[in-house]
This record gives sequence, structure tokens and C-alpha cells, in this order.
Amino acid sequence: MISEQNIGGEFEIYPNDFLMNSKDSAWPIFKNKESLRCNSGRSALVIAINDWKKSHKDFRSVWLPDFLCNSIYKTINNLGLDVLWYQNKPGDNEFIDNITPKKDDLFLYINYFGWPNIAVSNWLDLNKKRSWGVIEDCVQSPYTKDVGLVGDYLIISMRKWWPSPDGAQIHYKNFVEKQHLHDSDEVFISQRLIGKLNRGEMKNEKYYLDLFSKSEQRLDLNLPRKCSYLSEKLLSCVNISKACKQRQQNWKLLQEGLEILPDVKMIFSSINNKIIPLVAPIIVSENSRDELRAFLLNHKIFCPIHWTSMDHWSNESLEMSQRILSLPLDQRYGSEQMNSIIKIIKSFYIEK
Ligand SMILES: Cc1ncc(COP(=O)(O)O)c(C=O)c1O
Repeated sequence: MISEQNIGGEFEIYPNDFLMNSKDSAWPIFKNKESLRCNSGRSALVIAINDWKKSHKDFRSVWLPDFLCNSIYKTINNLGLDVLWYQNKPGDNEFIDNITPKKDDLFLYINYFGWPNIAVSNWLDLNKKRSWGVIEDCVQSPYTKDVGLVGDYLIISMRKWWPSPDGAQIHYKNFVEKQHLHDSDEVFISQRLIGKLNRGEMKNEKYYLDLFSKSEQRLDLNLPRKCSYLSEKLLSCVNISKACKQRQQNWKLLQEGLEILPDVKMIFSSINNKIIPLVAPIIVSENSRDELRAFLLNHKIFCPIHWTSMDHWSNESLEMSQRILSLPLDQRYGSEQMNSIIKIIKSFYIEK
């Protein structure tokens, strides 16, 4: 059976999304931290870096994991800072690099896909007395318990989790002084709103895809910005616990359904009630990944690749990037859609 419904891809916006009476707020709270809202994860990053710069005169370099979203690297590079790399990727149990950040450096690490980054947090535990700062990137794990405890700064981005066109947050221990935030970008917000409304109507695919791609190019302009009124409103109309439970259940369904396939491996082999997954990242063979992705797309299942590699990646990260695929499991979907995904992946490998 071919699914008629899109599974995955941009969140749609429906008029009812604004009307839900919610006791929740989408904005998570982290222990011992204050917070400031902004528009994007990269804005949150700029705020953190500007803040650190003010009170650390020897600050020149930011340490980044080689397996990362290009937008992080671009943002730091645009600020004219030196980037130093260390090896780390999703699912690593050990920190294999032998690095020594210098006084006033910043060290950024990512809690990938909703799972706590055990390798890095264990290593940081051994380096508790440090003269350098830590940014914990929780863009993919804002609702997971027990993350966000280590960083001097912590960044999240809500637009990966909800229909809101923008919305992000920086959490911090000590803010030196308030920073100026530009107003939200009206063109960006409108392009995304129009695109998301059209996607909800399942009409004009080419038109809305074009709007999404145009808007994405504006994200790096004039950082940092405020969160838009539209997103504030949407983010106050959500049911967090229902969404989190749904994501966990969907992950379990995918894991159980795909377990029998020798060609497919979940990067994270288990989940517990503290972990709220963004997607279900799988590993397949390098020569079948792109074909599988296209096959799923033909069945209207949209699977992103987190992430395409860059020059400096280690061989291990490069290999992962050629074999990884992210299966959608967000709160829009339940067992029917997860079973469709499983069925289509099985038909790809079994009937191939
Ligand atoms: C791990 C991670 N950090 C930061 C960002 C940047 O977030 P934003 O796109 O909201 O600027 C992304 C973007 O995908 C990301 O995946």
C-alpha cells in the first residue's frame, strides 16, 4: 500500500493550532539556569559567544565536534573566530580525542538526536576544574531529562520540534549584560507561514518548497534576533507530554519493526523514559542509502540526512555521514505511519 499522506518534512500550520488551550509551554526549563528567547539556534550561539567574549579577554577559539550541522560552523566562522576540531559522533561511548582546550576557549558539544552525549559528558567530568567554557548544544534534545547540566551555556531551537517558523533559546549561568536583539525578520516568518499553510492543504508543493528554500537563506542575516509573535503564540498552544510520549512510542515501534532487518541498524539501540527523540537515525550500507531515501520519498516519506560531511571530518564521521538516514517519528504520527515506514523499508530490502 502506498501512503497518501506525507510523513515527515516541515511541520504544517493549521488554524486550530492557535486555538489549543494549553497548560504547557513549549519552552523547557533547565536547573540552575536563566534563559533568553531568540529566533534560531544560531542566534542563541551568537549570544553565547558575544557574552563569553566580554568577560574572557584571551578568547580566540571554539572547539567543535567534527560531526555537526554546517550552520554551526558557518556561524562561528562568520564571527571571525578560530575553529578547532575534535572527533565525536552520535552513539560514541568514549571520547577518543586527546585535546587540551586553552584558557578562555569555548568547547561546544552536541547531545545528538535526543540522546545524552555520554562520551563527552564523561570526559568533561574528568575536567571539572577548567579555565575554558562549555556550550551544550541541546537543539536536538530540549526535552530529554538530565542534559543541560554541564554547559556554561545551553542552546535549543524550537522550530525542529513544533510548527513554529522560528523560536530558540539560550540558557546560561551568568549573563554579563543584556544584548541587543534585532526584530524578527518579517519576510522569513511570512514565507514560512505561507509555506506551512500550503503544505497543510497538501497543495502547490513546488510553490511551498520554493518558499521554504528561499526563507532558509535568510536565517543567517542580522543575528541575533527576537522570537516572532507568531511563534510565541504557536509555542504556547502545545501539549508537551503528549508529544513526548508519542515520540517515544514511535521510536519503539520503529526499533521493534526494523530489528529483524540485517541491513538496517538503529544508531541508538535503546531508549528510556528520560530520552525524547528528535528522529530515529538509522545506519544502512553506503551503496543503498541514497536509493532507500529516494524509495521512501516516492512513498511520500521524507527522511533528512543529518549531516552531509565537510572537509575536516574524520574517516569515522565521514563513513557515518554516508550511511546515516533519519526516520521521522514526531508527534503528528502514530502506529499507522510508523508501520508504513517499516513496511516500505522492508519491501526495499527484501524485494530488492
Ligand atoms: C545540532 C544543531 N545545532 C544548531 C543548529 C542551528 O539551529 P537553527 O537552524 O535554529 O539556527 C542546528 C540546525 O539544524 C542543529 O542541528
